[in-house]
Amino acid sequence: MNATYFPPVSMLAELTHRCPLQCPYCSNPLELLKANREHDTQTWLRLFDEAADLGVLQVHLSGGEPTLRPDLEEMVARLASRGVYTNLITAGVLIAEGRIRALAEAGLDHVQLSIQGARPETTQRISNYRGAHEKKLETARLVRAAGLPLTINAPIHRHNIDQVGEFIELALSLDAERLEIANVQYSGWALLNRNALMPSREAVDRQTEIVEAARERLRGIMNIDYVTPDYFAIYPKPCMGGWARDAFMVAPDGTVLPCHAAQTIPWLSFERFGDRSLREIWNDSPAFNAFRGTDWMQQPCRSCERREIDWGGCRCQAMAIAGDAAATDPACVKSPLHARMAQLVEEALATAGSDSANTTFVYRRIAPVREPV
Ligand code: SF4
Ligand code: FES
Repeated sequence: MNATYFPPVSMLAELTHRCPLQCPYCSNPLELLKANREHDTQTWLRLFDEAADLGVLQVHLSGGEPTLRPDLEEMVARLASRGVYTNLITAGVLIAEGRIRALAEAGLDHVQLSIQGARPETTQRISNYRGAHEKKLETARLVRAAGLPLTINAPIHRHNIDQVGEFIELALSLDAERLEIANVQYSGWALLNRNALMPSREAVDRQTEIVEAARERLRGIMNIDYVTPDYFAIYPKPCMGGWARDAFMVAPDGTVLPCHAAQTIPWLSFERFGDRSLREIWNDSPAFNAFRGTDWMQQPCRSCERREIDWGGCRCQAMAIAGDAAATDPACVKSPLHARMAQLVEEALATAGSDSANTTFVYRRIAPVREPV
């Protein structure tokens, strides 16, 4: 089974870890790379060429904040010339009007803009960046004025879960074609801040009701992506669509990874583009082959009828909670550790107390380019 895998179709390129925002749920690793560790323009262009040769059809240009790279237009143009669909994932606080037009002219296909709260004070508090909300709304308008399709990404946690209805109205008013209600995944900085971010079950249930009603009402007008967050789910999500199945990511220094948290699995080692070709890494690297297919699975996944639906869930969540990356994801009701997920929710709520306004976060840091609140 491990021999029958296909070329990747999707790649997430983390062009830089630098970012003007400091969101406490950032999926970047805790040890952020400084600018001097980033691959240069020519190396990224070579990597994109190899990705296109390998079969990649879509590239998500992300970070950190990808627009901090002055060579972004060049990258978009190269990908467009190879027929690769490009999606810019941005915090949207630093983009000048001319930049969006230039990116559109270079061939950019789509923009995904994160908004931390439906209200200005929430966006400012979570991002720790003064005036972030207003800047983001302006970016959304510029994106639509440039004729680019827009997705609004709303990362949801205890401090904005009661704003889901407002997020839906906001995305509609910004003429977004899609809204991602993205319940925070507890890895990276979010794992560090889990107690401060965890919502209650009642809030999650209310959120589900609101989203389901809006999906019905807005059919054909705006798509809303939503899945039950892992700590409240019965079955896990197929993280990354399955380990090394059809997607991968590249860190700013060219390290090629099966997922954003893969480096938290201590016995895996990862290779860099430049030391080896992308094709060699995708096909042969021990880290990519570690959890490919189903041969690596333990019980209950090994004999489960859903093993090729969710691929055993998330390896990094299994590592974080079960202490074994090959274990069944504890988000699954069949995992012997499933009850631990509910316990962690209770512990988080008990630790955090009821006063949301006084919660303190460990904000993500390396960015020299920010306006402090
Ligand atoms: Fe998925 Fe494994 Fe749970 Fe089955 S036992 S539903 S394969 S995580
Ligand atoms: Fe690594 Fe889910 S984040 S497999």
